[in-house]
Amino acid sequence: MSKFIAKPVTTLSGELKVPGDKSISHRSIMLGSLSRGITKVSGFLEGEDALSTLKAFQAMGVKIERDGNNVTIYGVGVNGLKAPKHPLDLGNSGTSVRLMLGILAAQAFDCELAGDKSLSKRPMGRVIDPLTKMGARIESNNGKLPLKIIGGQSLTAIHYDLPVASAQVKSCILLAGLYAQGDTCVTEPAPTRDHTERMLKGLDYEVHVDDNQICLTGGGKLEATKIQVPSDISSAAFFMVAACIAPQADITLLGVNVNPTRTGVIDILKLMGARLECLNQREIGGELLADIRIQSSELSGIHIPESLVPLAIDEFPAVFIAASCAQGETMLTGAKELRVKESDRIQVMADGLSMLGIENEVLDEGIKIQGGQFKKPTAVIESHHDHRISMSFAVASLRCDYPIEINGVDNVKTSFPNFVALANLIGLNIVEV
Ligand code: S3P
Repeated sequence: MSKFIAKPVTTLSGELKVPGDKSISHRSIMLGSLSRGITKVSGFLEGEDALSTLKAFQAMGVKIERDGNNVTIYGVGVNGLKAPKHPLDLGNSGTSVRLMLGILAAQAFDCELAGDKSLSKRPMGRVIDPLTKMGARIESNNGKLPLKIIGGQSLTAIHYDLPVASAQVKSCILLAGLYAQGDTCVTEPAPTRDHTERMLKGLDYEVHVDDNQICLTGGGKLEATKIQVPSDISSAAFFMVAACIAPQADITLLGVNVNPTRTGVIDILKLMGARLECLNQREIGGELLADIRIQSSELSGIHIPESLVPLAIDEFPAVFIAASCAQGETMLTGAKELRVKESDRIQVMADGLSMLGIENEVLDEGIKIQGGQFKKPTAVIESHHDHRISMSFAVASLRCDYPIEINGVDNVKTSFPNFVALANLIGLNIVEV
């Protein structure tokens, strides 16, 4: 089990490009595989999660070639997947399981899905239930992995009101809807990332979006195209927070995806007083990109608007570090989903912040954090093998007077394999041992 040792520095500067978006990378493999023709993907995230999806589709007979972050997918069409010879191991990746389940539920063959210890604890009932309503047969371990999908079912379209604001559940149902008879519609309680809808449209599939309802009709075809994956705002967020809290910082993050369903972290940091500007906004392949300049900032605590929660769902560990360095109290409510991510991100962050002497109160669906001074921890901070917890505490080193150690950082490679190299490039001092 490896750990980070992060030493304090005062100055961050320079320009950098963080790796490709994880959500878009997963979808490029899934939808490219189901397309007719050759899909060329550039900027693909070479992280373990996206690679789990890639390997799973290879195991289902799709020829996929990868040269670094360039991927060529020889699509087999919507009905061209073949039975894998072994259960598919999806490692740490919730997105792989939940989205693929929508596709697998409609195949002629049986298939088994497994994952690591963290993924095996995460709730899958949220996708099994609607798929079962559509006619799928899925066996689970009490709503958890491992899963067995019994093939050969014909799916019927449903109209589904999402009980939680979840892009994974929405995407799962829409993907199953590709195979279902009739119109499948999903209604969201709040907007969530819309990469599936955008990519389906980019592959010539009709998707109707009317306010908070998304509908498509089963039985169509997907046509291969070029996909350029923009930089992941979820990875960029660590450096946004780093620049805000560093004593002297002026950095620019290049070509970051600023799809409005993902920019909650920018809105939250700006509400806290961040000196952050989005420059050179442009559209590439149906997604919005910008260069983001961030300078050292005097942050103030806020009550985070609940409407921003789904739009910043993966960025809260980093936001909590910003809150710890802000004047006054920050309160997050309406965020119970954080408890079922790669770890219970409310409790695990609260434990780490307490070790650093930051006063906090865990709420059922959120947390209160009192900004203050980091104190020397008496022990190593535990990330619980959650990549985003590891990177967030590494960033906290910017406001410490001593090195801090973070345990169990192996999973950083699931989403941000070159995190340490890029962090050190702009001036942080992190070593992995
Ligand atoms: C994702 C959706 C979010 C997010 C996850 C990726 C996606 O999950 O936390 O990292 O790619 O659709 P939920 O749908 O569970 O909120």
